[in-house]
Amino acid sequence: MLADKKNLRVLSGIQPSGALHLGNYFGMMNRMIKYQENNDLFCFIANYHALTTVPDSETLAVNTFNAACDFLALGLDPDKSTFWIQSDVPHVTELTWLLSSHASVGLMDRATSYKDKIAQGLKPNMGLYSYPVLMAADILLFDSNIVPVGKDQKQHLEMTRNIAMRFNNQYGETLVIPDADIEKITQLIPGIDGQKMSKSYKNTIPIFDSEKNIRKQIMRIVTDTAGINESKDKDTPLFHLYTLFLDENGQQNLLDRYDGKGLRYGDVKHELFEKVMDHFGPFRAKREELLSNSDFVHDILREGAKKATKVADKVLERARTASGINFL
Ligand code: TRP
Repeated sequence: MLADKKNLRVLSGIQPSGALHLGNYFGMMNRMIKYQENNDLFCFIANYHALTTVPDSETLAVNTFNAACDFLALGLDPDKSTFWIQSDVPHVTELTWLLSSHASVGLMDRATSYKDKIAQGLKPNMGLYSYPVLMAADILLFDSNIVPVGKDQKQHLEMTRNIAMRFNNQYGETLVIPDADIEKITQLIPGIDGQKMSKSYKNTIPIFDSEKNIRKQIMRIVTDTAGINESKDKDTPLFHLYTLFLDENGQQNLLDRYDGKGLRYGDVKHELFEKVMDHFGPFRAKREELLSNSDFVHDILREGAKKATKVADKVLERARTASGINFL
């Protein structure tokens, strides 16, 4: 619904957290990239956020560049959108501070992503704790109307709205209140073990890894022990992953094969591998080209940062004036 409205500013960020997988792509990225056709898409690589989970500097630097190449390879068009690296528009850190006094500790304490990270063993620090305020600044700095995110980010969007409303209540209408566009796919993208596909579960099917590794992961998708002449269970990861690549006819055909006799899981896995390679083949080639043209990618990112800065300058100035930081 929201996606049908034209000319709204749509903003989203993605952390440069390593190898992209089918879950990232079908969960958020391809949906986000489509916005460039009819809307004013702002898209950035959240490397300040990644500082909270990627302590190794070399890894962060490499991942940031690779993430930029991933997006461009998957079809993000810098002429139709504004694409930059978060830290190239450092205004966002100043806005984070201006917002901080309007972010209540009670609100921060309820953040489930913070609690999850601590439960996973990350050391509590201010970066992790203030993560949602930085994210609010990302969104509010660009007068964003719509933010497409996965379900796991819903609470962060609510926090953003809450902080923006408190700021506006204190200083008068200054910040644009954004709406979330939460992924509508009710069926989460399963990993090869049937849990949600996620790097932390080590159950992903990568998009830009070697053919060999992609094949290996697909061959490892868990299946049951139904005999060749029995009908097969369709609520299974192999079935769900395959349907991502099929149109309605293709899906019906797969359904019929699962209901009938003679289906071998090995054959289905092989077909799925072919589908993955067909679908991502052109993107993979484009990415290789970008990786070996780093000057070209840097130019794109520099231009993107310039475009983003124009908007950031205006909004930050508004927030500085509203809050009394500008005193003349
Ligand atoms: N927190 C988001 C994630 O991990 C990434 C992100 C950072 C983001 N800033 C944002 C997403 C602003 C949308 C808008 O997925």
